[in-house]
Amino acid sequence: MSAEIFTKVKQMLEEVQNAAPTTKEQIEQFRIQYLGSKNVLKPLFGEIRNVENERKKEFGQLVNSVKIAAETKFQTLKDQIESAADDAAAQEMDLTAPGTPMPLGARHPISITMNRIIEIFSRIGFTVAEEREIEDDWYNFTAMNTPENHPARDMQDTYYLKDSTQMLLRTHTSSVQARTMMAQQPPIRIIAPGRVYRNETVSARSHCQFHQVEGLYVAENVSFADMKQVLLYFAKEMYGEKSKIRLRPSFFPFTEPSAEMDVSCFICDAKGCKVCKHTGWVEILGCGMVDPQVLENCGIDSKRYTGYAFGMGIERQAMLLYKVDDIRLFFENDVRFLEQFKAAL
Ligand code: DAH
Repeated sequence: MSAEIFTKVKQMLEEVQNAAPTTKEQIEQFRIQYLGSKNVLKPLFGEIRNVENERKKEFGQLVNSVKIAAETKFQTLKDQIESAADDAAAQEMDLTAPGTPMPLGARHPISITMNRIIEIFSRIGFTVAEEREIEDDWYNFTAMNTPENHPARDMQDTYYLKDSTQMLLRTHTSSVQARTMMAQQPPIRIIAPGRVYRNETVSARSHCQFHQVEGLYVAENVSFADMKQVLLYFAKEMYGEKSKIRLRPSFFPFTEPSAEMDVSCFICDAKGCKVCKHTGWVEILGCGMVDPQVLENCGIDSKRYTGYAFGMGIERQAMLLYKVDDIRLFFENDVRFLEQFKAAL
């Protein structure tokens, strides 16, 4: 009896060693047969009681070696079939096929315009100063020579923070002038780009949020002529070499004298068109000599130092440059509009 069962197990070991299942199904069949929950080895372990005592150990080891052989073979076959599947998939892959296109974004026209302005002023020594959008009343209005109840405040109504008459959303980047002057002594030569807010009805020409770039130069002996030269340089760089500028007297509380600057219309070559309302000129910024009171408010000796300042709306410049006739388009995030600026990167 014992010899018979030994022979049976040895045969089984040989079967396992010689087995050569190839398909997935055959391999699964092999697994069920030798390693499944009702595998053929299980009853053999039960047979151990029929083996004479001195050969029990040998028998146990023999049956175990069948089990190990089956496990090893199954693992090898499984690995083979999996890597073959990977190879097949790799062969099916067409490396010459065109890739899935990735949609490319574009820089926002306001960013493009802002960067262009920054670049123009950086070249002549202006550094960028950035400040907060939630501002203290003092920096936005009082320091800029617009004390409480001053009628000029009406021109720039804004949003106040809840429960505060002091904190507001800045109405202009001129507040950065005050912040910079409070923090450092002349010479000061900065441009301050950023977002500003006004309590205004949104229309094609005005919005409750927009962007400005402010400029400030304070040093000894700074004159109106210096300002005019720098602004002419800016107009030529921004709107073309042929550009001319003209300054019209105006009023701003923080500058004295104040002016508004027009640039010759680059759309019609100053011949007259819809954009320049047939005048040949388009208004692009406000400017002037910093009012001595503003210098004093910010701790700067107005007898020793003078300065000029200017401020412009970035949307306004972008509308002119790209011939956009509705300011709301900049804030709607309609990709059909924004995609058109890809080339302008
Ligand atoms: N802050 C002005 C505005 O928002 C623009 C401006 C005008 C800024 C003249 C200046 C300036 O620095 O000198 O309307």
